This record gives sequence, C-alpha cells and structure tokens, in this order.
Amino acid sequence: MTKKLRVGIVFGGRSGEHEVSLLSAASILQAIDRKKYDVAPIGINKAGHWLIAGAAQGLLEGGGESGPKPEKKLRAGDPAATPGARVLAEGQPTLLAPEPEKPSASALTKSDAAALDSHAALGGQSLDAVFPVLHGTFGEDGTIQGLFELAGIAYVGSGVLGSSAGMDKDVMKRLFAQAKLPMVKHVTLLRAEWERSPRKAIAQIEAALQYPVFVKPANLGSSVGISKAHNRKELAPALDLAAKYDRKLVIEQGVGGKRSKARELEVAVLGNDDPKASVVGEIIPGKEFYDYEAKYLSEGSAAVIPAKLSKADTKLIRDLAVAAFRACDLSGLARVDFLMEPDGKQRIFLNEVNTLPGFTSISMYPKLWEATGIGYKELITRLIELALERHAEKSRNTYSREE
Ligand SMILES: Nc1ncnc2c1ncn2[C@@H]1O[C@H](COP(=O)(O)OP(=O)(O)O)[C@@H](O)[C@H]1O
Ligand SMILES: [Mg+2]
Repeated sequence: MTKKLRVGIVFGGRSGEHEVSLLSAASILQAIDRKKYDVAPIGINKAGHWLIAGAAQGLLEGGGESGPKPEKKLRAGDPAATPGARVLAEGQPTLLAPEPEKPSASALTKSDAAALDSHAALGGQSLDAVFPVLHGTFGEDGTIQGLFELAGIAYVGSGVLGSSAGMDKDVMKRLFAQAKLPMVKHVTLLRAEWERSPRKAIAQIEAALQYPVFVKPANLGSSVGISKAHNRKELAPALDLAAKYDRKLVIEQGVGGKRSKARELEVAVLGNDDPKASVVGEIIPGKEFYDYEAKYLSEGSAAVIPAKLSKADTKLIRDLAVAAFRACDLSGLARVDFLMEPDGKQRIFLNEVNTLPGFTSISMYPKLWEATGIGYKELITRLIELALERHAEKSRNTYSREE
C-alpha cells in the first residue's frame, strides 16, 4: 500500500465568507478519502488567529451531529454544529513558520523525485499538501497562496497571480479583453477620483453606459457592496457604498436592461495546464439580482443543471470558461460565471472567475462535476493530485543562476 498523504484543510478566515468556509470545510472533512489521506484541520478565526485542534481526530470522527446539514445551514449561515466551528472554539493557537522543511529541489539537485517528496511544515505540522477552503479576501486573493509558496507546500487551487487576478474585477477584465473574451462594457474608477470630482465621474459613466448599471467594489465577493443603479439618483449612493469596500470601483452595463434580469450561467473548470469544463448550470436568483441575501439568507434561489441552452451556446460557454481559466493563469479549480441576455439577441458575456468557489457537497461547483460524472469524494482527490502535480512542476524551476 502506498503511504497516506497528510493534507491540511485550512478554513474559516477573516473574510465575510467565513461561515460559508466552515460549511465547505465540514463537507470536505466528511467526504475526503481517508484511505488515501490523513487530515489535519487548521482553522483561522475571524480575528486572523490560526488554530489547530488538540483533539482533531475526535472532532472529525464525531459523526452524527458534527456533520453539516448543508441545505439549511448554508442558507442560515449557521456554523454552530460544524467540526470547523469547534476547532475555532476549542483549538490551540499555533504559530506559522513559512519555511520550507527541506531545501527546495533546485537547491538540492535537478531531481524531480525530490520535489514530489518534499514535505512542508505549516502550523507546526508536517504536511504533504494544503486545501485552502477559504473564500474571499485573505483566502481567495493570493495572500495565503503567497504564504504556501514561502512554506514550499503544495496547495489546492490557483497560485498567487491567478488568485489575485481572479479577485480583482478590473484586472480580470483586462486579461479577458486581451484574450478577446466577450464582456459587458464597463468603467473603472478610483475611489479617489469619485470623491474628488463626483460630477465628472458620473458624466464619464453616463457617456459610456446606459442605466441600469451595476456598481461593484473591484475586490470582494458574495455580492457585498454591489448595487444595481436604475437611474442617476441611485448612482451616487451605489458608488459611495462600493467605495467603502475598495479603492477601485467597477461600473458595468447591466445585462437584461430595464425590464428583465440576466440569465446566470456557471461552469466548473478543473485541471492545470489542460483544464476541462463541466456541463453548464444556471442559477435562478429569487431576487432582482443574485445579491448577498439571495446567495446565503433566503431560500428563493434555484439551480438548474444542466442549463436549458442550445447545443451551440453550451459549447460556446464551455469553451469560454476554459479560455477564461487560461487567460487568468488559473490552476486546480475555478467556477466561471456568465451573464446572458434573457431575450433579444441573447448575447453571452463572461462575468467573472471564482478561484475558490463554495465547496459544500451541494454547492454549484461540486454539483456541476457530479452532473458531469465526477463525484464529490473523487473531486477532492483529483484536486489534491492537481496540487501535487503543480507543485512538482513548479519545483523544476531553478531560482538562481546555475553554475
Ligand atoms: N453587468 C451585470 N448585469 C446584470 N446583472 C449583474 C451584472 N453584474 C452583476 N450582476 C448581478 O450581481 C451578482 C453579483 O455580481 P458579481 O460580479 O458576480 O459579484 P461577486 O463577485 O460578488 O459574486 C451577479 O450574480 C448578478 O446577479
Ligand atoms: Mg459572482
């Protein structure tokens, strides 16, 4: 039998999606293949402290009441009964030493084998790989990925660059544009520009776009700070709100016009250098758009898998999803989201990539793969394998001039 690998599951975090992360982690802890992996849960509380569970094994074996009841909990955002919540409540503080445990492969020799074998230490634990089950700021944006790079550890998902590019709606759009991918028209403004000359900013937006427009902080997620402005009167408050969350504001042409709302289509992408797209799914928000409440608090939104689309549109969307993944230099996984005109020309626009999408067993990303033929447990295994593969590939790099 091959040796079991030790995988750290990092969850919680400082972002507004802390609770979603607890639920995703609980699902993963329940489903991960224990024949292949030993699991080390590592929690980050809302204050940013890192915690490990003294009685991690007990927590994980807890079964019954420690398991998440995803549907209800996801909506309610209630973490109380998840193992993750208990690690946070009872875990011991841990220090993080972002140092590679062994010299990097390049410092040793050119041996590829050594790279695969490289253990790394994190939070005082020796780990073969980490699955950051973190969403949003400090989890999905390249910051923690930078820490894993310093620690020389394999990790699930995109690297520093892809994670931060995927988080920044302004930079993401530049990469999409360069790859000639279809997007709605938009204007990017600095918060400073909006505050210095509001009239000029409004004139600039109105010259480029027609109401309704969507106003967003460039970096965030979960629809926090996003509003739909139907007219000039609603524009200024929308910009003020977004300006609370980021120094860059993105204002977009609303899809669907004044009377109807956009169709929201989502594709799961999996892979490293040869990424594959899942079937297409559709979210039908219970509200005027898919805002925070529709995502997490109300029960009114529904998912349709596969989405009702023509063969040609399905193919186009799947191809665009892979192209978006490549354009942002992503790896491992991403959920790629689209907006489609509900009538008229039914044009399709790329909306965004999510590099660490919701990952409970009933979240869209795993459900899309399930519908494509990869079950939840197998998906987790595949993601860990992709993390190791990417790490091994990267370990071939030499970081200083060879003699
Ligand atoms: N240009 C747009 N036209 C129509 N609806 C939009 C547009 N941009 C965003 N929305 C709505 O707002 C939601 C959140 O926007 P999104 O850019 O996906 O932000 P987040 O990163 O927070 O998920 C979308 O799921 C959609 O319902
Ligand atoms: Mg979104």
